[in-house]
Amino acid sequence: MSAKWSVKTQLPVHYTVFESFDLFNPENNALLFDGQNSSLQSLRRVVVVDDYVERLHGERIHQYFQYHEIEYRLLSLSVSEDNKSMDTVFQVVEELNAFEVSRRSEPVIAIGGGVLMDIVGLAANLFRRGIPYIRVPTTLLGVVDAAIGAKTAVNFQGHKNRIGTFYPPLAAILDTTLLQTLSDRQISNGIAEILKIALVKDAELFELLEKHGAAMLSSKCQNPEAVPIIRRSVQGMLEDLESNLWEEKLERLVDYGHTFCPTLELKAVPKLLHGEAVAVDMAISVMLAYQRSLVTYQEVERVYNFMRSVRLPLLHPICTPELLYAALQSTTKHRNGLQRFPLTVGIGAAQFFHDITYEEIKTAVKAIAQLEPDAARQTSPDTLLNGGDPCTQVSSL
Ligand SMILES: NC(=O)c1ccc[n+]([C@@H]2O[C@H](COP(=O)([O-])OP(=O)(O)OC[C@H]3O[C@@H](n4cnc5c(N)ncnc54)[C@H](O)[C@@H]3O)[C@@H](O)[C@H]2O)c1
Ligand SMILES: [Zn+2]
Repeated sequence: MSAKWSVKTQLPVHYTVFESFDLFNPENNALLFDGQNSSLQSLRRVVVVDDYVERLHGERIHQYFQYHEIEYRLLSLSVSEDNKSMDTVFQVVEELNAFEVSRRSEPVIAIGGGVLMDIVGLAANLFRRGIPYIRVPTTLLGVVDAAIGAKTAVNFQGHKNRIGTFYPPLAAILDTTLLQTLSDRQISNGIAEILKIALVKDAELFELLEKHGAAMLSSKCQNPEAVPIIRRSVQGMLEDLESNLWEEKLERLVDYGHTFCPTLELKAVPKLLHGEAVAVDMAISVMLAYQRSLVTYQEVERVYNFMRSVRLPLLHPICTPELLYAALQSTTKHRNGLQRFPLTVGIGAAQFFHDITYEEIKTAVKAIAQLEPDAARQTSPDTLLNGGDPCTQVSSL
């Protein structure tokens, strides 16, 4: 008989997400965080910065590390979805190697949006089987989503995030003052992910968004209510992640708005940003919930009015029922054969469904197209507006 061993072990995970404002002020020690709380901090750092952010803050970042007498190397990377690839990961790895970063005590600092942080996270994970890294998000989507979870990824052969790992950072440091240079579109993009958390688990957060969302957009998150709103959203997101960090459970509330979204992001012309695709997905999901009497007419209106107030799209010309149904099928495969489609039950709660039909999607899209004729303009009118029975239930919205 041959021998057989079974090895079982556990990996404790601990990382810190904390707010700190005016991060590049030399008086602020947050960027020196090494998780040890020791005065023996190694005074060496590789800092990788999104090149647009480097143009905005490069001088202050240099001054910061010089002031603290850190031996550092600043790598400015021009990144986008198009070069979110292994080649760019290797560019970072080359830098880590050249600098001879120590395995434990010299966390790499990633300063930028989700693309930059995903690339640096993967590089940190691969280099010498993993060195610590710190995420400093500079986009709203980064703050409420990409910085605070455990995932890293790059695109591969036309597939988004096809190569990636679970590799939590040592810390994510959230500084909302960095958001003031973002475009309106980037702010709306991040608000979509906050709306997601509000809709599935936090009715009070939704009320805060209704009251202050437009000001958040116009002030680029510098209004006094932005921090408590972002804080609530981060809290909601982390609660969900903490109990399912490795995504063993496939029914995830945070997947709300992420059923049709991957296909929309991939195929939409003109392009949709991630948060915009999430918004369109949520608008359809809310209508599906209405058709199943899970939310009321007034609740649909509240959600749509909020989305309009922060300039999030409710529909995109690409949204034919055929494409959306194919997107659902593709996501179902990814969710191990069951739809696990989260739908809101009222505002602030959700349930999973496995039986959403093509007809329901068609009815939902038609209803939204009637409300948003501009957004639907290029959507096949034959399919949406003239085909099938008129949707009497929702056309009154
Ligand atoms: N790892 C995760 O858990 C996770 C979660 C969500 C999203 N993501 C990934 O994040 C990416 C999207 O991130 P994103 O929305 O931050 O996009 P992004 O990183 O492309 O940044 C958007 C744009 O904003 C610019 N920018 C960044 N900071 C700025 C600032 N302070 N002022 C002005 N401009 C600034 C960037 O140069 C870029 O042009 C996607 O690739 C997605 O897959 C990852
Ligand atoms: Zn998302």
